[in-house]
Parts: sequence; structure tokens; C-alpha cells
Amino acid sequence: MSPFQLTRTLPEDTMGAALRTDVLHGLTRTPKELPPKWFYDSRGSDLFEEITRLPEYYPTRAEREILVDRAAEIAAATGARTLVELGSGSSEKTRHLLDALTDLRAYVPVDVSESALVGAAEVLLAARPGLQVHAIVADFTQGMELPDTPGPRLVAFLGGTIGNLLPDERKAFLRSVRGLLAPGDALLLGTDLVKDEEVLVAAYDDAAGVTAEFNKNVLAVMDRELDADFRPHDFDHVAVWNAQEEWIEMRLRARRALNVKIRELDLMVPFEAGEEIRTEVSAKFRQDGVRAELEAVGLKLSEWWTDAAGRFALSLSTAV
Ligand code: SAH
Ligand code: AVI
Repeated sequence: MSPFQLTRTLPEDTMGAALRTDVLHGLTRTPKELPPKWFYDSRGSDLFEEITRLPEYYPTRAEREILVDRAAEIAAATGARTLVELGSGSSEKTRHLLDALTDLRAYVPVDVSESALVGAAEVLLAARPGLQVHAIVADFTQGMELPDTPGPRLVAFLGGTIGNLLPDERKAFLRSVRGLLAPGDALLLGTDLVKDEEVLVAAYDDAAGVTAEFNKNVLAVMDRELDADFRPHDFDHVAVWNAQEEWIEMRLRARRALNVKIRELDLMVPFEAGEEIRTEVSAKFRQDGVRAELEAVGLKLSEWWTDAAGRFALSLSTAV
């Protein structure tokens, strides 16, 4: 069997239809908003990788530190023969798990970004020719069908990407993940933790402007996919800490009053000067909250590890 398989679980143009629905819904409501999954075309995936190397963006380094320290423990606790990774992106940190999981038979990365999946598999397979990689192009919020690979399964959801879901979406998502777990399977979840506002805001508004470019990439996606005429210099990148919700909000703020044409939707979207589109929330967590959210869907937290500076946590939980 070829070591690399790629499955597109969605019918042709489902993503296009979903983008049209999200843009129509999100830009005709007040306040305007868009789901963050539309950042990640090939350019957006590359920009995210650049973000992970920025001095201000600590989550990737903090999570890697935990993975390096704990991979052997994770392997011993789970004995996983299949590693499923949701929102796997470049799979860069995942190699620490792959190297520790000595009984591993299959790696199943799941992502909306086909370019990220293909690029990640090329790098992984070059170093591990014996690995079976079964990549799935799918939206992990829409329910997933996984290939029939040997158990036990470890489902990893790294990077703090769970924080990009709104609370209701998070609950539905965790419930669907719980549904993927058989007795003996486990969930490895990365969560960024609540900390000082200045540290958080700097991580989402870096001096080099890479996060601003990542944020504005959603405008380029709409221009290309929906024949819209957003111009990036008409908008400012904004990152604010919402202390009540304990999440960072990324927004795009119109520099002046303008009308944007979205020809594919036959839609004109008016913006007042200063009007914003919320493009992402990135929730930050505390241990009690994570435990409670897991328990609410029938998952029991068994391990909680942080980096030495206490910025980021990885937790292991099992189905009860
Ligand atoms: N796990 C990696 C990448 C995080 S970036 C890390 O920790 O560095 C978030 C990843 O999730 C991107 O690769 C993006 O394409 C993917 N993603 C975002 N929303 C998604 C969705 N709804 N369904 C599937 N993948 C999604
Ligand atoms: C993928 N996700 C966890 C990132 C985050 O930190 O919320 C996306 C990101 N947005 C801005 N910078 C990085």
C-alpha cells in the first residue's frame, strides 16, 4: 500500500458553498463577523507558519516544550496505534509524538487546507518512509469520518486551535470528538492559558506585521473566490483582549466609509468609517474550565501538563 493517501470527504465545491454562506451571513449582520477557517488557503497556511516563529507568538514554542518533555509519557499512557490529528497544519510539532509512539501504525491528519496536508506529508514521509499517512481534507466542525485503522486511537488537537471556536461550537465539537473515541482511546488537547493582557495582545499584533497580513488574507480569499473587491489597505488589523470572555479578538477595521462589491453573491456590503469585521476569537483557558468542558461531554481529564513558564497546557483525557 502507498504510504500516502488523501481523502476529500466533502463533495465537490462544498467548501465554496460554505464560504458563500458564511460570507453572506457574516457580512450582512451587525456586528460583521467571519469564521477563522477561511484564513487558511495556501498563503494563509504559510503566514501561520511564519507567525509560529515570531518572537511575540509564544504558544507554539511553549507547546513544543511540553511535547518534547512529555511525548514518552503520552506514548506510554495511550499505547496509540493510530494518531489522528485535527487541524494538523504543517504537523511540525507532531513529529515529537510520532517518534515516541513506538506502536504507531497510522497517522491521520485532518485539515481544511489541502496544501498544508500535502506539504506536511512530504516532510514526514521523507524522514519516516515506513509511516502510513492517511490525510483527510475536512472541516472538523462538520463531523468527521475516520478511516478504519488499528486502535487504540489518540486524537490530538494541538496549537490551542480549540480556542478559535465559539463556546457553543466548542461544545458541539468536543461532543463530536467524544463520539470518535472507543474505550481505551484518548484525546490530547492543547490550550493556551489566561495571562497578562500585554503578552497576549503582542502575540496577536506583532511588530513585523505578519499577523496583520494573516488577518487581511481573508480579504484576498474573498476577492479570489467570490470575485469581491476588498482592498487590504482599506482595513486596519486590530487585536483586543476581551477580559469578560477571556479571549483575544482579531478584527479588520475599515479606515474610511466604503462599499465593497461581492459579485459572486450579487451583494454590496457597506462599511462605515471605523466599522469592524470580527475575523477570529482565540480563547484562553484555565484548568478548571477545561476540565468542566471535557466532563460535560463525557471525557475525564487524566493529565495536565504546562510549559515551565505556565503559558500553555496540554491535557490528556479519556472517554468515561
Ligand atoms: N496544529 C498546528 C496548526 C494550527 S493552525 C499547530 O499547532 O501549529 C490551525 C490549523 O487548523 C490550520 O492548519 C487550519 O487550516 C486548520 N483549520 C482551521 N479551521 C479548521 C476547520 N474548521 N476544519 C479543519 N481544519 C481547520
Ligand atoms: C491556530 N490558532 C490557534 C491561532 C491562534 O493563536 O488563535 C491562529 C492565530 N491567529 C492569530 N495568530 C495566530
